[in-house]
Amino acid sequence: MREIPSRPSRAIHFFDPSNAKMAAKVPAMAGTVDVLLGNLEDAIKADNKEAAREGLVTIGRETDFGTSQLWTRVNALDSPWVLDDLTRLVTEIGDKLDVVMVPKVQGAEDIHYVDRLLAQLEAKAGVQRPILVHAILETARGMANVEEICGVSPRMQGISLGPADLAADRRMKTTRVGGGHPGYLVRSDAAKTDDGYDVHGEQTPRSTYQQDLWHYTIARMVDACAMHGIFPYYGPYGDITDVVGCEDQFRNAFLLGCVGTWTLHPKQIEIAKRVFSPAPEDVEHAKRVVEAMGDGTGAVMLDGKMEDDASLKQCLVMVRLAEQLAE
Ligand code: GLV
Ligand code: MG
Repeated sequence: MREIPSRPSRAIHFFDPSNAKMAAKVPAMAGTVDVLLGNLEDAIKADNKEAAREGLVTIGRETDFGTSQLWTRVNALDSPWVLDDLTRLVTEIGDKLDVVMVPKVQGAEDIHYVDRLLAQLEAKAGVQRPILVHAILETARGMANVEEICGVSPRMQGISLGPADLAADRRMKTTRVGGGHPGYLVRSDAAKTDDGYDVHGEQTPRSTYQQDLWHYTIARMVDACAMHGIFPYYGPYGDITDVVGCEDQFRNAFLLGCVGTWTLHPKQIEIAKRVFSPAPEDVEHAKRVVEAMGDGTGAVMLDGKMEDDASLKQCLVMVRLAEQLAE
């Protein structure tokens, strides 16, 4: 079985292979972004599904991807297109394809199906390296089954959050593609007198803090991925103009354990690369802790803070990630 890529992909950059202008830019991006993903699913009109497949086959054949991986997102397993997507791509560019992203995964049975189909197509086409599978977590049922999905096949490379579909399936009341919502907030208490009554009524200024709508989902996804040794990713941030909100959302995901994200526009690539790489000062600090901890046992004081085996392990996560990204 092909090794799961040990170098985490910080940016999975989506392109539309049916869009000739966009497709023409792909060869020049090879080597500059961790993953180039030819999208066949949502955002590609039904009339363009065949052209998208065709475009991706051409790009796959003609492009030297260098250090970039080539992924595709196929159509949903209950769609009329997915069988042709997989058959055509594996047969014609299976040796170039690193990962197939499968949308709207509901449970282990979906990955079993893709796994067997890929095995048959790879055997038929003589593809030597097994193609890996990445699931999008974007249904309530998929969410409930996330642990079994992560562990169901050695082909599993990772999981991404699909916040738009997941919001719809869960009947959340947002119309955005990822990111926060100004209505999802907490408000500080109203000022109270000693006897517990509000002194200023409704006029009292109170602070509000916007919360991360995706905190629970990302944390649960990260746990499931960590348990099975695969990679967790944030998904799309649809407001291309909001680079600040995008960076905040990516950073929240990074701090919670995600290794990367999708990028829908070139300006999100720079944000993803920066945010999903540990900051040099954090790596420096982590190295000092590793050095100070010597054989790793006991506890030491560094800059007034207690360090022990647990903080050493956190620091090693940071140092190893920096080393992998430098490879
Ligand atoms: C992505 O596919 C999403 O639904 O957010
Ligand atoms: Mg989706």
